Amino acid sequence: MNRKSKGFVFVMALLALAIGAALAGAQAQSGTTQQAPAQAATEAPKPKVSEEVFKNIQVLKGVPEEQWQATMQYMATSLGVECNFCHVGNAREKDDKKQKQVARKMIEMTRMLNKDVPEVEGHVTCYSCHRGAQEPVFTPPVADENFAPPARGPAVAEGAAPAAPTAPQVTVDQIIEKYVQALGGAEAIQKITSRVSKGALEMGGGRQSPIEIYAKAPDKRISVMRQPNGRESLTAYDGKMGWLGGTGQPVREMNTAETAAARFDADLHFAAHVKKSLVQLRVVRPEKIGDREMNVVIGRMKGQPPMRLYFDKETGLMMRVVRFVETALGRLPTQIDYADYRDADGVKVPFRWTIARPNGRFTIQLEAVQQNVRIDDARFAAPPAPAPTEQKPPTP
Ligand code: HEC
Ligand code: HEC
Repeated sequence: MNRKSKGFVFVMALLALAIGAALAGAQAQSGTTQQAPAQAATEAPKPKVSEEVFKNIQVLKGVPEEQWQATMQYMATSLGVECNFCHVGNAREKDDKKQKQVARKMIEMTRMLNKDVPEVEGHVTCYSCHRGAQEPVFTPPVADENFAPPARGPAVAEGAAPAAPTAPQVTVDQIIEKYVQALGGAEAIQKITSRVSKGALEMGGGRQSPIEIYAKAPDKRISVMRQPNGRESLTAYDGKMGWLGGTGQPVREMNTAETAAARFDADLHFAAHVKKSLVQLRVVRPEKIGDREMNVVIGRMKGQPPMRLYFDKETGLMMRVVRFVETALGRLPTQIDYADYRDADGVKVPFRWTIARPNGRFTIQLEAVQQNVRIDDARFAAPPAPAPTEQKPPTP
């Protein structure tokens, strides 16, 4: 695979959040009543867990199948390595690498720390010690030319910014109200029924490819990225289900975490109903992005880990969202930075957003936005699945 195509595969993996494969393409449209699924459509079938799916599971038991890939990614990212650091080729069940065996002990050690040392309360993860390296650092560094005496008090734990010691000055309602006003007001937001955005997906190193995004209220969205070889890559949410596909690729239904993320991105009127979309909203300590002060709100989509929303104190605009994918060992973050807000039909629309994960980042820069144009619902629907085949376990 050349560098270029590798880059695209990588970006597609990012677009797809690169976690797990909840294959559902084989759901036949049989239409016969005796083949009706055992469960009501609203009730998800009981998810399979690791030891039912894989061959040699000794410590990571009970991990939902769709969390597996993200869990492995979590270890790889924490140590700054790839899968083959612990595995030999695709024979992942084999134990012939010392690193894999050490990793098992590390998993048990980490659990023990979190269970037996109340002070750390579940906050010790692979990353706490490894910090992206195979070898944790054992000794403090010596003073360099920029040495300054240590700050008062302990550093704040990663991702766990506690509430301000004094009560926050602003409330969730005030922050959201300011955001709505900054965008143009609730009425203007609700007037937007669809949006067609065209621009480029930039991958760094000057590589980019055209992207078109179609969105329709309340929450349908499809992005179509055209690769240099002419192939299309699709990421979509049809209002109920998220799916991924493209030229010559079977359609894959998104897993739970991917679906939640896709639904969030597809919500055309998010600002107008933040309190409906997110529960347990609260204000935490303000933070800075660059030199700008941000109000930070935490909230969660039902069934998902909490996410962090950053609003510019001055303009009121939402500048960043950090959401997390739960794994068996810790949470993997995705950070989306919104920028280049421009006026379009009475509302402000971010023309630029950057999506960053531990293993890479890319930016979408829009050139043109058209709103309130007719988009047929069919555009968001997944193409029919190919003839049902035996379901294979995912090959990560
Ligand atoms: C730091 C070491 C480490 C890294 C890196 C790692 N794994 Fe693993 N992997 C393990 C361990 C340990 C197990 C066994 C877990 C157990 O026994 O419960 C495992 C098991 C697996 C299994 C189950 C195999 C079976 O049938 O029993 C798969 C699949 C897998 N890993 C895929 C991956 C992929 C894909 C990556 C890269 C994204 C990866 N792993 C990265 C340590 C690692
Ligand atoms: C409390 C600190 C701590 C935590 C938490 C921790 N590790 Fe480690 N890990 C270490 C230390 C220390 C070493 C030994 C490094 C050395 O000998 O150079 C190590 C070594 C390893 C090695 C062997 C590396 C090599 O080069 O052979 C692997 C693999 C590993 N850890 C994986 C993990 C995984 C996966 C997790 C999370 C489940 C984890 N560790 C959590 C401290 C930690």
